[in-house]
Amino acid sequence: MKKNSTVLVPPEEMEKQRHFSELIYSKNLEFSSEIGRKPLAFVRTFGCQMNEHDSEKISGMLEEMGYGFCDGFEDADLIVLNTCCVRENAEDKVFGHIGGLKHLKKKRPWLVTAVCGCMTEQPHIVSEIKKSYRNVDLVFGTHNLHRLPELLYRVLDGGVRVYETSRTDNEVAEGVPVKRCGNVQAWVTVMYGCDNYCTYCIVPYVRGHERSRRPEDILAEVKKLCALGYSEITLLGQNVNSYGKDLEEGTDFAELLRLICENTPMRRIRFMTSHPKDISDRLIDVIAEFPAICNQLHLPVQSGSTRLLKRMNRHYTREQYLETVAKVRGRNPGITLTTDIIVGFPGETDEDFEDTLSLVEQVRYDQAYTFIYSRREGTPAAKYPDQVPEEIVKERFGRLLELQNRISREISEGYLGKTVEVLCEGFSKTNLSRYTGRTDGNKIVNFTSPENVTGRLVNVKIESIQTWSLEGSVTE
Ligand code: 5AD
Ligand code: SF4
Repeated sequence: MKKNSTVLVPPEEMEKQRHFSELIYSKNLEFSSEIGRKPLAFVRTFGCQMNEHDSEKISGMLEEMGYGFCDGFEDADLIVLNTCCVRENAEDKVFGHIGGLKHLKKKRPWLVTAVCGCMTEQPHIVSEIKKSYRNVDLVFGTHNLHRLPELLYRVLDGGVRVYETSRTDNEVAEGVPVKRCGNVQAWVTVMYGCDNYCTYCIVPYVRGHERSRRPEDILAEVKKLCALGYSEITLLGQNVNSYGKDLEEGTDFAELLRLICENTPMRRIRFMTSHPKDISDRLIDVIAEFPAICNQLHLPVQSGSTRLLKRMNRHYTREQYLETVAKVRGRNPGITLTTDIIVGFPGETDEDFEDTLSLVEQVRYDQAYTFIYSRREGTPAAKYPDQVPEEIVKERFGRLLELQNRISREISEGYLGKTVEVLCEGFSKTNLSRYTGRTDGNKIVNFTSPENVTGRLVNVKIESIQTWSLEGSVTE
């Protein structure tokens, strides 16, 4: 057996959870007959796609327990805050909401409140909630997500506050129900956790060690999604290129993609996130080989300075990163490249920052997610003495944003007058007379159409552009 080999949560444990789910279902039936409606849950998500998908699992479990759903705090009988702690401002936002629960509980004394996700994997946060926020009934971490039925039952039946943050770091839970947000595009987790320990990042501490799902479980999920009519999946993991290192079979990520392409009719497959140090030639080839794998890659660079990359523990140099980009583009012409960049990492000099700007100029990303460095307690970088003053960071951040906006706009302008193939995801959220979808390269396209084309691949002529999105109308 491999060291740290991943195991499934035992079937008896999953059965136990189904039992608690049924017990809550009975309680909720009683509630419904007394009040004349189902109890309503509101799940609010903070953070990344991983959390979005965890919330779909939370909602799936709640649906099985007999909950209906509402889309605001005011109508809810159960509130779940699924939290993020990757940057301080995410945590501050959550604490604002936790504080507000007190006032909601006064108005609705039966209201049950739960806080879960990455924040609650940090002992100091749990202590703070315990001590200062007595209005929170249930706290559970990412490792205990599948145990929600049992934990919620303890709150509902015992009227007690429950804190469950114990963790087993080599388990994967299969068979958790999922209530998906979309009907066209779906998230599929391929692995949990991260073993990279970039020096700024809290994720490995809160999400635990890398654990891969078995290829057969992933394939079964993708086949089910095809049968349900989904056309696009995004495979999720903190570092999908580490996929399989903990598996007996030794299937790697490139092989997993091949298995999905060869054994399911899924039309479009995306994945994120890829660590540049682990991109293999096999992966680059597989993207080129299978038309179902979208011509798009999210490749976080974090900094353009080799000196800072070393300090960040990223395991690649500026030159190696640029070589990877050249290789990816050589094999996959026209590929959409996006990235994450941190500004103001401890010790970042003007020269280091200029290196980041010049790398951005050189690569010309379609889009960059730019972040101001946030000091995270418990990470090595939080202790570095040379934190960069706020005014300098803000000034650099503004310059980077300006540069990337210009590049994104220039790339978008290249689409004007062209016709692109779009998978329609439904009505645009901001303008209900228009549809929204994405190109193979993940460009968002808002467009008009004489008929409802949700779920279909359509040709759209691009007539105008926004910085990150395109606008047009369906052509025959
Ligand atoms: N400060 C700022 N940005 C961070 N990220 C991760 N940790 C931090 C931090 N402490 C960014 C990285 C990562 C993205 C998901 O969040 O760029 O790729
Ligand atoms: Fe954080 Fe680095 Fe892991 Fe990404 S690869 S989750 S940045 S530690």
